[in-house]
Amino acid sequence: MTLIRRIPMTALAIIVAAAAFPAAAKDRPITATNTRAGNEAAIDARAAALVDRMTLDEQLSLLKSRSGASLLDLGVPLPPFIPEAMRTEKPKGAIGTAGFVPAIERLGFPALQLADASLGVADIGYLRPGDHATALPSTLSLAATFDPAMAHAAGDIIGAEAFAKGINVQLAGGVNLAREPRNGRNFEYLGEDPLLAGTLVGEQIAGIQAHHVASTIKHFAANSQESGRFVYDVRASDAALRESDLLAFEIGIRRGRPASVMCAYNRVRGSYACESDYLLKQVLRGDWGYRGWVMSDWGATMSLKPSIDAGLDQQSPQDKDYFAGIPAAIDKGEISRAQVREMALRIVRSMIAVGALDHVARPGGAIDQAAHAARAQAMAEAGMVLLKNDGLLPLAAGARTIAVIGRHADKGVPAGGGSSQVIPYGGVYRDVPEGTHPLLALMAPSYDLSSPLKALQAALPGARIVFDDGSDAARAAAVAKEADIALVFAVKPEMEGVDSADLSLPYGQDAMIAAVAAANPCTGVVLETGNPVVMPWLDKVGAVLEAWFPGQRGGEAIAAILSGASSPSGRLPLTFPAATDQLPHPQEVGYDPAKQRPLGIGVKYDPFTIDYKEGSDIGYRWFEKTDAKPLFPFGYGLTYTSFAYAGLKQAGGAGLTVTARITNTGRREGVEVAQLYVAPPGRTHRLAGWARVSLKPGETREVTIAADPWLLLSYDEKAGQWARLAGEYRFFVGKSAGEPELRGTARLDAATESRRR
Ligand code: BGC
Repeated sequence: MTLIRRIPMTALAIIVAAAAFPAAAKDRPITATNTRAGNEAAIDARAAALVDRMTLDEQLSLLKSRSGASLLDLGVPLPPFIPEAMRTEKPKGAIGTAGFVPAIERLGFPALQLADASLGVADIGYLRPGDHATALPSTLSLAATFDPAMAHAAGDIIGAEAFAKGINVQLAGGVNLAREPRNGRNFEYLGEDPLLAGTLVGEQIAGIQAHHVASTIKHFAANSQESGRFVYDVRASDAALRESDLLAFEIGIRRGRPASVMCAYNRVRGSYACESDYLLKQVLRGDWGYRGWVMSDWGATMSLKPSIDAGLDQQSPQDKDYFAGIPAAIDKGEISRAQVREMALRIVRSMIAVGALDHVARPGGAIDQAAHAARAQAMAEAGMVLLKNDGLLPLAAGARTIAVIGRHADKGVPAGGGSSQVIPYGGVYRDVPEGTHPLLALMAPSYDLSSPLKALQAALPGARIVFDDGSDAARAAAVAKEADIALVFAVKPEMEGVDSADLSLPYGQDAMIAAVAAANPCTGVVLETGNPVVMPWLDKVGAVLEAWFPGQRGGEAIAAILSGASSPSGRLPLTFPAATDQLPHPQEVGYDPAKQRPLGIGVKYDPFTIDYKEGSDIGYRWFEKTDAKPLFPFGYGLTYTSFAYAGLKQAGGAGLTVTARITNTGRREGVEVAQLYVAPPGRTHRLAGWARVSLKPGETREVTIAADPWLLLSYDEKAGQWARLAGEYRFFVGKSAGEPELRGTARLDAATESRRR
């Protein structure tokens, strides 16, 4: 085990709102990539003039990013599986990020400095020595806030920090839906629901781009698991994809107008995503009219002509250099000069649109670290989900002795690993097994140095807090027995390139929790996970709080919730199954325990297909369809008070608007997230809107939730258009997908919408 506070490094990146949330920005033209609507023509003209002054070589130079960092700077020996192509020096002008495109100085076009990602400005392995950033809670935690304003605020922090570090392209905006709860990257995404995920990612992107930093929605599309990510082929109908995975992108793009889209590694309906005519040409550029640029994921470019014809504009580091063949292809007439101009134009136009040419990002800008840390803590608190509480929480002031038990709960909180990992101010603790290669050690599960143990001691100065690391169940139980209350911190690390075999907690924690709960009836469990877990000990414990990967102030945020200084207000952004046999795939397709390696480096799979047999019925919709009862439903979450619903009113016709009265029936102020689920005729219920309201004890508020018009439509594959079927729509307003409070039906008229622009 090593405590690493600062290591010199490089390119591991290679390898309340009391109102209903604003309606989706359906009227905003999707054709714009900028955050300043209204000057499209001027941007077009400026971009065209600039690109037309470029030589062919200059235009071509924009179409390829290379690594902006060097593994050679890591200060560790590189293992043999790192190819020669990845042993390059840092290019001149690069600042140590995942991607770099040189400036075209004679024309005043700045270098592109591309950095990960959605949880803050990432620097896996300290690629930029001494350069740290605010580590936000995981985006899964952000989704649990059900709060678009919070997502915007997260983007605001990322954009401000990126700009201050000289980064002008943020690879942020991961919105793959959590179809597969064993996917090691779900912590980087926003859950299983297209409206929730799309709305929040759009706000996050808009927050980033307001700082003149381009943002990148990814991974387009159907990149639902890490096992076999370079080879698998997703089979699903056009309608199924458009109503689920693609809908999340569509809503996110329309709302956030990202400058770029990153196409995924995997194949979809037979073609690699980065050369998919269906994804890039028909859907993204055709139906959605997207005018930003498409970059490949790192290593995802698979061809020259098919990719360019489909709509790929920029290949990335680790890609085989197919685009080196462009000049010859032009000579042979396979690629036209106009295509190359158009590709460069999309990049230039997007950078102008976000303001990156008028506001050039340079390293060394000021960052208000303290303010960002405070906001990161507020986000972590807002994302925590109270799953069970028999009255144990908030902790009674009289509790004399508290046993804090758990792996590294004395040091910090787990962080998700891979390209998105942020190294926070203060550093991380890396949980490195003996004998690990120094390079892989940099990718070991790590913990942001925000100690729940210390934070609890500070929050409860009168309590005597004892600690046990939980590695020995009998010893942990003995420590728990002597205490008035036992709090177990259960971790499950997740990282890019690594999926889980099942939904159990690792390190023997399930047995340890059972032993602790048997020794002390006042046992609470804090889960720090990036995915759902099963809880065989659930009936034995008094409280369960899902804290996710809560970021650099996670310890303080957990202490605030446990002590009652702050009330939980998060809701599950994905279903917690009771068992894996409830899932569309009881075993993850293609999962091989021997091939789980960080970032999937050096791992080979034979091609296989994943059949999305659930169609668009992901998560809670699959549970409704199969009439299965999850452990905890999507949308679920308790707080320290209770709420009652009454007075349902509704209006149908050309849309659906629902009104309900919500009363805080408890003794503490608290937040309720009232959720509207609508079932079009013959279909399962879908989240169509929600209202997040903060109510004082005894207070009643009338909330109105308008169903997002997009969610009332279904995709008619034969006609190639969206249609609202005429008929009776069942709906309910409730606390979660599994807790309807007020039910109704409304008659809606027929309508069609092409969504073509
Ligand atoms: C990931 C992307 C990331 C890229 C650059 C890839 O491994 O899939 O999400 O942006 O690396 O670091």
